Amino acid sequence: MANWRGMAARRPQQTIGGLLKTALITGITGQDGAYLAAFLLDKGYEVHGIRRRTSQRKTARHDQLLGGRADRRNRGANTGVYLHFGDLTDATGLARIVRETSPDEIYNLAGQSHVGVSFDTAEYTANVNALGALRLLEAIRACGLTGKTRFYQASTSEMFGGGRDARDETSPFRPQSPYAAAKLHAHWSAVNHREAYGLFACSGILFNHESPLRDETFVSRKITRGLARVKFGLADCVRLGNLDARRDWGHAKDYVRAMWLMLAQPTPNDYVIASGRQHSVREFVWLAARLFGMRPEWEGEGATEACVDANTGKKVVLVDQQLLRPIDVPTLVGDPRKARAELGWTAQYGFEEMVAEMVTADERLAAHESATGDASSWLPSSHP
Ligand code: NAP
Ligand code: GDD
Repeated sequence: MANWRGMAARRPQQTIGGLLKTALITGITGQDGAYLAAFLLDKGYEVHGIRRRTSQRKTARHDQLLGGRADRRNRGANTGVYLHFGDLTDATGLARIVRETSPDEIYNLAGQSHVGVSFDTAEYTANVNALGALRLLEAIRACGLTGKTRFYQASTSEMFGGGRDARDETSPFRPQSPYAAAKLHAHWSAVNHREAYGLFACSGILFNHESPLRDETFVSRKITRGLARVKFGLADCVRLGNLDARRDWGHAKDYVRAMWLMLAQPTPNDYVIASGRQHSVREFVWLAARLFGMRPEWEGEGATEACVDANTGKKVVLVDQQLLRPIDVPTLVGDPRKARAELGWTAQYGFEEMVAEMVTADERLAAHESATGDASSWLPSSHP
């Protein structure tokens, strides 16, 4: 994969009146943060990112995608990325970073992003996902940047709750988790700052998007990483919760391009970004298993349902009731026609291609793990 310096050097730089454009990304260490940083560097932006202080270095995704040079010591000298320590729960720190970087664009991607975990950490999730967005919006105002800085809020299809019909920008919201309720607060905060103060604020209502950089606690990566380990004899099976859930899955690379397109429009607006197609968790498992060369067959039902690899007779996926959520949105599918018409956005990846890319990457990882015995990056499949 290209490293970010190489990519930035190839392309003309994004400028306003001849000056380099500056972007500030919260959540830069996450899946979308990594893809967006690479995308913006490729466009010639000066990229700043906010990362939390944690006991372990958390730039693994950048190491993978960008050549491993996202380090504060380099502070842009070699990489084009400047990392700042900060946290969405720390208003004064956020305001200082916004003042110091004076960005043309802020992408607020930081969040406690796990819906299942939000039931156990409801107050914290609200603090980060709802108040965190508000703190950033108020920082823009307090720094006198309302007329300059464009703001992207990472909203979510979870705000809609369930629903059989495809959801678009006019569909009603009915959040069904602490995560979704907090994100809805952030969504309305962005809209309110647009309407009350004239801030260029966009809310991107994104449906599920995945990639080889997806955290292993989300079902897509849990499946591809888990089945790869089963294939290499590193695990017996993958344990999953609700197999009936249906989601509209796309590729993160396509979705971060949509974020940028929103902020590049003459006027701010909110957009649904989705593939328009949905699949069940069961179908995801089946496709991934086929791509791993297995012959998946389902047997049993409810708590005893399992996916058997007919090649070996082994149960490769089991249902674990403990992984069910208190409420789970049963089905979600999006209607991205507005984004197509106004942003010119279309997805380059289909569902099958996206799963295939994840399978290939996790097969390589499992082969490495098998050869070296290094399983340090593995999360047990009992995680929700
Ligand atoms: P992710 O991989 O879980 O990344 C979340 C990022 O937020 C990480 O960089 C994380 O830092 C950071 N973060 C968490 N709590 C923070 C805090 N208190 N202060 C500062 N940073 C904090 O999520 P993602 O898939 O990239 O998604 C990006 C955003 O889009 C999230 O807000 C998510 O809720 C939203 N979204 C995602 C999807 C999707 O399908 N991926 C769809 C709709 C909306 P650490 O690395 O230190 O944990
Ligand atoms: N995580 C997980 N782990 N989900 C499982 C499992 C499991 O073992 N077994 C079944 N599922 C089901 C969940 O119950 C859910 O119905 C579906 O698989 C997808 O779960 P996740 O991959 O965790 O994603 P999500 O849809 O809850 O949330 C993701 O997409 C949202 C956009 O719709 C996250 O990325 C959110 O941050 C994002 O807003």
